[in-house]
Amino acid sequence: MSNKTLWLRCEKKEFERRAALTPSTSKRLIDAGFEIYVERDDQRIFDDAEYEAVGCKLVENNSWSSAPVDIPIIGLKELPASDSPLPHTHIQFAHCYKQQAGWSSVLSRFHRGGGTLYDLEFLNDESGRRVAAFGFHAGFAGAAAGALAFAAHKSNVKLGQLEPYANETAMVADVKSKLGGNAKGLKALVIGALGRCGRGAVDFFRKVGLEEDDIVKWDMAETAKGGPFQEILDVDIFVNCIYLTSRIPSFLTEEQIAAAGQSRRLSVVVDVSCDTTNPNNPIPIYSINTTFSEPTVPVSVGAENPPLSVISIDHLPTLLPREASEQFSSDLLPSLLTFPERNSARVWTEAEKLYKEKLGEAAKVEGL
Ligand SMILES: NC(=O)c1ccc[n+]([C@@H]2O[C@H](COP(=O)([O-])OP(=O)(O)OC[C@H]3O[C@@H](n4cnc5c(N)ncnc54)[C@H](O)[C@@H]3O)[C@@H](O)[C@H]2O)c1
Repeated sequence: MSNKTLWLRCEKKEFERRAALTPSTSKRLIDAGFEIYVERDDQRIFDDAEYEAVGCKLVENNSWSSAPVDIPIIGLKELPASDSPLPHTHIQFAHCYKQQAGWSSVLSRFHRGGGTLYDLEFLNDESGRRVAAFGFHAGFAGAAAGALAFAAHKSNVKLGQLEPYANETAMVADVKSKLGGNAKGLKALVIGALGRCGRGAVDFFRKVGLEEDDIVKWDMAETAKGGPFQEILDVDIFVNCIYLTSRIPSFLTEEQIAAAGQSRRLSVVVDVSCDTTNPNNPIPIYSINTTFSEPTVPVSVGAENPPLSVISIDHLPTLLPREASEQFSSDLLPSLLTFPERNSARVWTEAEKLYKEKLGEAAKVEGL
């Protein structure tokens, strides 16, 4: 088997339509001499035929475990829970390096199988910045969900289930129509506006037609004075996109919201950052992650006051699977092209070093 081979597995997580390799990035890899196997997958936003057309070899759905062990398996999300050992090399988000629930048992599967994990969350460039991340479309989709929740409030209904959109144009058109065809007059505040998610949120508000002055963009400089911030109560939608690294004063508090009473304009908070259970969460007005089926959670504001909802979905880019996949996969491509030299290419040697550290920690916990 050529060492320039990758196997794109199907995604088993509900609602997950994104893909780590798209037909266009697969083609770039094939042009560079790679062989790309693709599991057939109806759930994926890209049709099997799109991969076939660029020269990928299609294989049975969910058949990666029987692939030759020297073929690296690439996917996005966690593998379905199981005890079976993992002998392959996997490139994916595994969510097991920060002691998340079940982390050591996931790593023990690699330990027992002799496989290797390259976690996509920890592929960094020389400056320590992620080579590929979904932030932009998380912010874009979060702002869209916020606008949909705002429209629902206006009609005195609760926002229903969110469905992934075929593409960005369809999303923008749908939100515009739910806002009555025109978003003029709507006012939004984005905190973390200079980051990946923040730029996506600002881009969405522009595309849906907000006036530039009605998109308030804050980053470190504007929050340096310390919250809580009255300015948040004075917009319709607040989108939080910060990368939280330490304890900071709250941006919003329940007391502040109660004190504002009926004078509050704020209708929807979208917490893209989703530091829901983090003790330093600067938006301590809710305590659960919301979902595509139940996108909003109400904040208790008192019966006489206007409603306030929070959206805290932790996989927002799934709402825009095509564009989110294209961007992520093309950002990942330069690193993938060096994967055959993974024993010397920095991005991969560092990821493997981290994997080995985490594997050692897991082995202790699991008594391996
Ligand atoms: N909900 C989802 O689906 C989803 C998807 C992707 C990322 N995220 C999360 O979104 C967050 C942001 O990710 P990103 O890739 O955009 O990060 P990023 O590093 O690109 O941007 C973060 C921005 O926040 C700013 N910031 C940090 N602290 C701040 C403060 N106290 N006040 C004002 N601005 C502050 C930074 O200056 C930066 O501009 C992360 O927590 C990430 O895990 C969520």
